[in-house]
Amino acid sequence: MRIDIVTIFPEFFDVLDLSLLGKARQSGLIELGVHNLRDHTHDRHRTVDDTPYGGGAGMVMKPEPWGDALDSILGDAPAADEGPTIIFPSPAGEQFTQATARELAEESHLVFGCGRYEGIDQRVVDHYATRGRVRLISLGDYVLNGGEVAVMAMIEAVGRLIPGVVGNPQSLVEESHEDGLLEYPSYTKPNEWRGLSVPPVLLSGNHAAIAAWRHEQQLERTRLVRPDLLAEPVESPAP
Ligand code: ADE
Repeated sequence: MRIDIVTIFPEFFDVLDLSLLGKARQSGLIELGVHNLRDHTHDRHRTVDDTPYGGGAGMVMKPEPWGDALDSILGDAPAADEGPTIIFPSPAGEQFTQATARELAEESHLVFGCGRYEGIDQRVVDHYATRGRVRLISLGDYVLNGGEVAVMAMIEAVGRLIPGVVGNPQSLVEESHEDGLLEYPSYTKPNEWRGLSVPPVLLSGNHAAIAAWRHEQQLERTRLVRPDLLAEPVESPAP
């Protein structure tokens, strides 16, 4: 998979040299390009923002540097349905979930545009929607200072789903959200620590009992912490 990122803080993504994603880059499973938006400005101050039309607080990112940067990545990219998926992280976007990560992991080319300040001039989004699939994606219902942290999270969630990135593919199956439930608790040696014991069923060697216990733990955790994940019928109001 090819991933391009446009940002005013390219150093933010230096950490993608580390760990599993770093290895995936070395082995060629992931090809990464990090582009400094300021390299696509043409004034002495390398200006990327300006005051909003209509007034209001904060600054808006100017369209011209974005146009220049994205054009240099897309080249003479073909029609919208064949071009890359262009993602603008935004608190005003659709919610990023494990299902989104799975969808994006199927793509061959992702382009991330990291906005700062009050966001990017809307015409950038509108223009590139004609040149690629554009998605505004939110990490969650809170506001970050910019898209960089959101992009890091998305790349990690997507990258680990690319075949070969995670050594043991079974570990992708048995984790939170893959089956719609939260993960069961895990234990390792020693079987007694600070007066706390490992649940005896895990030492029993009885695989069916272990699987049943783990499933029950998943249900219990999900019920307690994330009841919204359980497809329970919504209670209808009393007549
Ligand atoms: N940029 C600022 N806040 C964000 C959020 N919650 N998700 C994605 N991008 C953002």
